[in-house]
Amino acid sequence: MSEEQFIFHPDSEPIKDGKVTWRSPSNIALVKYWGKKANQIPANPSLSFTLNACATTTSLSYTQREHYADDFSFDLYFEGSQKEDFKPKINTFFKRIAPYVPFIKDVHLTIETSNSFPHSSGIASSASGMSALALCLMDIERQMDTTMTLDFFHRKASFLARLGSGSACRSIEGDLVHWGSHEDTVGSSDLYGIKYPYTVHEVFKNYHDTILLVDKGQKQVSSTVGHDLMHAHPFAQNRFDQAHENLTKLKTILVEGNLPEFVKIVESEALTLHAMMMTSLPYFILMKPNTLAIINKIWAFRESSNTNVCFTLDAGANVHVLYPQNEHKVVYQFIKDELVVYCENGQYLCDRIGFGAKKINS
Ligand code: PMV
Repeated sequence: MSEEQFIFHPDSEPIKDGKVTWRSPSNIALVKYWGKKANQIPANPSLSFTLNACATTTSLSYTQREHYADDFSFDLYFEGSQKEDFKPKINTFFKRIAPYVPFIKDVHLTIETSNSFPHSSGIASSASGMSALALCLMDIERQMDTTMTLDFFHRKASFLARLGSGSACRSIEGDLVHWGSHEDTVGSSDLYGIKYPYTVHEVFKNYHDTILLVDKGQKQVSSTVGHDLMHAHPFAQNRFDQAHENLTKLKTILVEGNLPEFVKIVESEALTLHAMMMTSLPYFILMKPNTLAIINKIWAFRESSNTNVCFTLDAGANVHVLYPQNEHKVVYQFIKDELVVYCENGQYLCDRIGFGAKKINS
């Protein structure tokens, strides 16, 4: 599918006033996206687990504007209060998506959004937030185009979400989502995420992700800056090639349920992401001493307990502890006994693999 196919066709029903609400989850990448080309095209393909508990709920009310104007008219409420400082980001998003959803200029929009996770938890809300907003817009488009297939709805929602925040395109469906052209993944595209098209072993169903909140502060370096630094990065091409190779390897690992090999790729991907940050110019470090303490504890526990617990990291200091359902009891006890002490104010979030965004009756 090309970008042109996502342009809204004007022979549809005119827009009416209304309100739609969507709850969209966050996701955690197993193979990381780090580096992008123009228009939010990823430099390498990625694969993620869709989460369940960490989510954003967004309501979008729309009323026809009296006069046409070549701009956007919207109010934004975050957790009940008007948020002026979020508006420039949304305005940029609307500018990028307007060619595909031109009707957003015909209406005044009221966006009301809230997260299931604490505001300053260091958890990025851009994936769940942008995908929830994209789904609301697609819901409006669907009301004007009643012939739209569900497949197209999901694809275009992912396509729009990508233009807000790359990783957001992996938050539409579950439970594993692939984004980015990859020769060994049928149907893969740089333009949108797709539901992982291959068989996945039972052991990956119900996988747990306990998110340890090591540092709840604002990141010192944004992912936008981090992605940009991959342009002149001395190891960029090798890293991009490695992501392709890891995705090919994961295909067999996911079918077979080969947890020891799964662990190797997932942890290597997390450390490679941070290695890219440490070797860019300017270089930076987002891990904290407690991030490393947790990683070492996980390695020691995995060895002694014969479990398959592993970690992954986002662009931050928090640690995602991943483990299968059949190891939940023993690993969760270990987390409480030995890892929570490294969390800021002892805070952590219990999440698990989820099945994608849901419409909420407004
Ligand atoms: O979606 P962005 O632009 O915030 O980038 C996110 C990048 C990582 O979270 C570090 C990796 C990933 O694939 O999600």
